[in-house]
Amino acid sequence: MVSIDPKAVPNHVACVMDGNGRWAEQRGLARIEGHKMGEHSLIETIEGALELGVKWLTVYAFSTENWKRPPDEVKFLIGFNEDILQRRQQELHEMGVQIRFVGRTDWRVPKRLTKRMNEARELTKNNRRLIFTIAFNYGGRAEVVDAVKSLMKAGVSPDKVNEKLIARHLYDPKMPEVDLMVRTSGEFRTSNFLLWHLAYSEMVFTDTLWPDFNRTHLAEAVAEYQSRSRRYGGVTA
Ligand code: FPP
Repeated sequence: MVSIDPKAVPNHVACVMDGNGRWAEQRGLARIEGHKMGEHSLIETIEGALELGVKWLTVYAFSTENWKRPPDEVKFLIGFNEDILQRRQQELHEMGVQIRFVGRTDWRVPKRLTKRMNEARELTKNNRRLIFTIAFNYGGRAEVVDAVKSLMKAGVSPDKVNEKLIARHLYDPKMPEVDLMVRTSGEFRTSNFLLWHLAYSEMVFTDTLWPDFNRTHLAEAVAEYQSRSRRYGGVTA
């Protein structure tokens, strides 16, 4: 049992679901088998977040850099995302989960996937228990570039630009800052994930590979978060 203070649960948790490929390779399996196993960890994490009372959960499903992977793996990941959305949207809906997306909606994202995304977003739009955001074709720098473009298109004068205004031009203006970022598989990087929102987040890195990650690991990360002292550049009283 992990001991958690229910009054100090992070509002927004973000996960880099890393280590699927290595999990498969360690077992002599094709990399995509690791991704397939990652679906179970994803559902565990969503259920764990609901149990803990986390309000926002964001996962890195496909980055703007992931297009560089072998074509077969890219094709698999796109189909897999589509498939998970189709198979799981009803169940997530019944759990009170709202599904949202951040990322570039460019020509590389197949129409079928965009259709599924719109379906899932529409079906779950009134749910409030947990806002589950999928970062697909997402890059933190691309998001800043797109926000700058959007500001310029809106004709905002340079002296009006401030942090609040920039935040309003990000992919999801309602997305709050990340309180806790969890990355699996022993990698200590943010890899272009949620650059803006991660500015003051606490980071927990675990050696566990994503396919082995479950709600207990999430609770452990939350306990680690609760042991930290957040100062936001100030000093503790
Ligand atoms: C990183 O592991 C993982 C990914 C690039 C994809 C993870 C995607 C899912 C689990 C599906 C998400 C789907 C939805 C609908 C949210 P890696 O391949 O980089 O592992 P490695 O570092 O061991 O090679």
